[in-house]
Amino acid sequence: MEKSSGKKNTAVFISGRGSNLKSLIKYSKTKKSLIKIVLVISDNSTAKGLYYANKSKINNIFIKYSNKKSFENRLLRLLKRNDIDLICLAGFMKILSGNFIKKFDKHILNIHPSLLPKYKGLNTHYRAIQNKDKYSGATVHFVTEKLDSGKIILQKRVKIFKADSVKSLKKKILKIEHKIYPKAIIRLLTNY
Ligand code: GAR
Repeated sequence: MEKSSGKKNTAVFISGRGSNLKSLIKYSKTKKSLIKIVLVISDNSTAKGLYYANKSKINNIFIKYSNKKSFENRLLRLLKRNDIDLICLAGFMKILSGNFIKKFDKHILNIHPSLLPKYKGLNTHYRAIQNKDKYSGATVHFVTEKLDSGKIILQKRVKIFKADSVKSLKKKILKIEHKIYPKAIIRLLTNY
């Protein structure tokens, strides 16, 4: 699977804003990057993140989600055609089937805005504040069939202050996400 450049061909899946995609593109453009982002896939035709792919001239495709089977079949064809080694989910809000995940075993990562295993799913910041947690954070993990449950690759916490709102916590955690996603990729690909 090693390319002549030594970089892993990477696909990033998004559904919305794409700030993590932006940070991954930034990392991929560094000299020492271990990945080359060759494909961006969105299940949302108006995802703002598509702008970052276009800006960096990365092949990007909107795939309409009508049902899981046809969506994933289309994905698999595209991933094969683009010789993809690594998939990074970055705010991608669809759940992939076990069958799909098996085909990319240990090569699909996700970023989640909480200290997993706490707060899988949605509204993570709200739940952390409601529970008066002292810390929250972000986690990069392997994707498995179970939502937000695969082995953790990297996690970083931030302190929740009394004055924090959902908005301020979200902002703080997003900043952390942008730092740890590239770091988690390096950790995965260099086994350190
Ligand atoms: C990020 O906070 C990411 O952790 C979260 O969606 C946001 C996407 O932001 N993902 C999940 O909640 C997945 N369970 P972005 O589009 O700006 O990268």
